[in-house]
Amino acid sequence: MPTVLAIETSCDETAVAIVNNRQVYSSIITSQIAVHQQYGGVVPEVASRQHLEIVNIAIAQAMAESGLEWGQIDGIAATCAPGLVGALLVGLTAAKTLAVVHQKPFLGVHHLEGHIYATYLSEPSLTPPFLSLLVSGGHTSLIYVKECGIYETLGQTRDDAAGEAFDKVARLLKLDYPGGPVIDKLAQTGNPQAFPLPEGKISLPGGGYHPYDCSFSGLKTAVLRLVQQLEKEPGEIPIADVAASFQETIARSLTKRAIACAHDHKLDTIAVGGGVAANSGLRKHLQAAAEKHHIRVLFPPLKFCTDNAAMIGSAASEHLALAHTSPLTLSVQSRLPLTQIMELYQH
Ligand code: KG4
Ligand code: ZN
Repeated sequence: MPTVLAIETSCDETAVAIVNNRQVYSSIITSQIAVHQQYGGVVPEVASRQHLEIVNIAIAQAMAESGLEWGQIDGIAATCAPGLVGALLVGLTAAKTLAVVHQKPFLGVHHLEGHIYATYLSEPSLTPPFLSLLVSGGHTSLIYVKECGIYETLGQTRDDAAGEAFDKVARLLKLDYPGGPVIDKLAQTGNPQAFPLPEGKISLPGGGYHPYDCSFSGLKTAVLRLVQQLEKEPGEIPIADVAASFQETIARSLTKRAIACAHDHKLDTIAVGGGVAANSGLRKHLQAAAEKHHIRVLFPPLKFCTDNAAMIGSAASEHLALAHTSPLTLSVQSRLPLTQIMELYQH
């Protein structure tokens, strides 16, 4: 597999990695969380400026840590969609410049394809077809991975993404941003059965419910009402019990849909990706249900669940091996369906 230098700047992590799709030579992740925390979320303009300040340092560090020379790098890649336009532009422009200077092929990579490919870094035995459960701050979907670049969306959230729900509930519980890791930690000391919460179901016009689609905005509202109710009662709010009950509901909802989807499509492997793949409740639930149904479930190591550049390099390496490269005229896109990613390549 080709060795690729990859850059990820779609949101609030400036990341550079050198990988082929099975081996990580170096992975630098610089988080901007501390800068954005005071605003309770990511401020796009601040993110772009931070990327600009850090990206060259991160590139130099990734090269140094890899121990490789430029002559050993076969291609340069960067996330080009979806994400914050100004933030994406920093990484993409840096990658194009390196490609021109060092005369290497250039590849734009879809951020979500990167999350799918994170699993390959720790599971060399993984081969399509398999089901990908993508659960990040911006997306929640069930993707049928047919082969590199060929994806079908089988299920998705109709409103908030799973990570977004964690972040919003954390905010209403007055916890820090990003909310996922904080709720996860708090939930470990709480009772997940303390408060029954509604699992968002999507009604079908002919009756019944969509088997794979989900909704989290109703759950978020239910937590808000619960907190308002608890505030009227004497004593401290049992915040750990609220966190555990919320996490349990999300984990159950995602598990049920992923297992049904894999089962119905005769897929024996589920690869989970995105920041929420780090969630201990989801890991526990999905692992237990998968075992019962004889389905293999794979989670990337924690450091490759949240945004990183190694996953972008993993996807780029696979594309480059198939002679997929991008024109230098490629630009960034704030949105791009995963099903259209072959538009990024001339092949
Ligand atoms: O994949 P990611 O790093 O960025 C996007 O592409 O969106 O995901 C970030 C999201 C945030 O919403 C964060 O709260 C959530 O992943 N997250 C978690 C955990 N760690 C990060 N959610 C639940 N449990 C966690 N342990
Ligand atoms: Zn992401």
